[in-house]
Amino acid sequence: MDLNRTKILGTGKYHPAQIKTNLDIAKTVDTSDEWIVQRTGIKERRIGDISKDEGPSGMAARAAKIAIENAGLEPNDIDLILFSVTFPDTMFPNTASWLQEKLGITNKCGALDINAACTGWVYGLTMANALIQTGTHKHILLVGTEMGSAFVNWEDRNTCVLFGDGSGAVVLGASESTDSSVIIDSILGSDSSKKESLILPKGGAVAPIRQDVLDKNEQWMSMDGQIVFKNAVKTMASHCAKLLKRNKMTMDDIDWFIPHQANLRIIEATGNLLKCPEEKVIINVEKYANTSSASIPAALHEAVEDGRIKRGDTLLFAAFGAGLTSGATLLKF
Ligand code: UT7
Repeated sequence: MDLNRTKILGTGKYHPAQIKTNLDIAKTVDTSDEWIVQRTGIKERRIGDISKDEGPSGMAARAAKIAIENAGLEPNDIDLILFSVTFPDTMFPNTASWLQEKLGITNKCGALDINAACTGWVYGLTMANALIQTGTHKHILLVGTEMGSAFVNWEDRNTCVLFGDGSGAVVLGASESTDSSVIIDSILGSDSSKKESLILPKGGAVAPIRQDVLDKNEQWMSMDGQIVFKNAVKTMASHCAKLLKRNKMTMDDIDWFIPHQANLRIIEATGNLLKCPEEKVIINVEKYANTSSASIPAALHEAVEDGRIKRGDTLLFAAFGAGLTSGATLLKF
């Protein structure tokens, strides 16, 4: 069976207008702009406003419309929605179904949420690639959209300084035989032995949110930052090195490296391990903080829009997140 080759047909992103600076946070918890910038590189983050439909599906609809338009398609050309989301609109129906309605898609295409935390969009890219390759789907909308602001405890300085809200989207389809754009290879992983180092322990079926959870103020995410930090650097660098090696490439062949935008120090440490020149790394964590699985597609769109990333460029994505999940993708844009 001849397989199709998958390409990114169009990109889009959306970040809410409302900005929360480090100084804003320092008014309510014991932290400072200096500490946050020094330890994370983050200066500010965007916060979604539900009254303006800036929940996960609402942000995703704005990003997806741009991606669909940039792909030269109409919403009803989409035949599958893959929605990477850690903080969904509702437990069910899935957020992909809310999105289908907001996009005005009436063709009743499949709509699926993916939860692999911050790595979810890279997981989705691998899944979408396989579906396009086999020809079962023609135009897949893959979004990563997160509203971490709804699940962090704004009184917990360990986590509240890190996260922001936003959305990134791409449309995937088959590339023409003459087209150099192609998803080349990817690696996915997860180390469940460290699953409790980044967790939203309450609110699922084993521990629903009841009055006792609220009384103990346990309804928020919790994190052991150092365990996550060390694993992030190690796994992202090793996945990238493995991908390059098995495709007989080196960092010299990469035009742009887009790592998950969690923390500038994690990005720099990973880049150093890979011996990646600074000027090849796409970074926007200072403006948006960690938008979880939205961070890579949103950074991709930003760099396409401002002309840094061009058609034919070779890109390397790397992500990690709760699970602890991890993944990397190598492609020609
Ligand atoms: O998508 C994945 C999401 N998660 C991550 O990416 C998290 C990865 N981890 C990290 O980014 C870093 O571990 C943090 C930014 C969370 C923390 O940086 P760190 O350099 O690992 O700091 P630390 O945890 O070792 O804390 C150093 C000090 C501690 O005080 P003492 O014990 O030295 O007195 C903390 O209590 O900094 C204190 N601290 C803060 N101080 C001011 C922790 N958070 C803050 C804060 N402001 N926000």
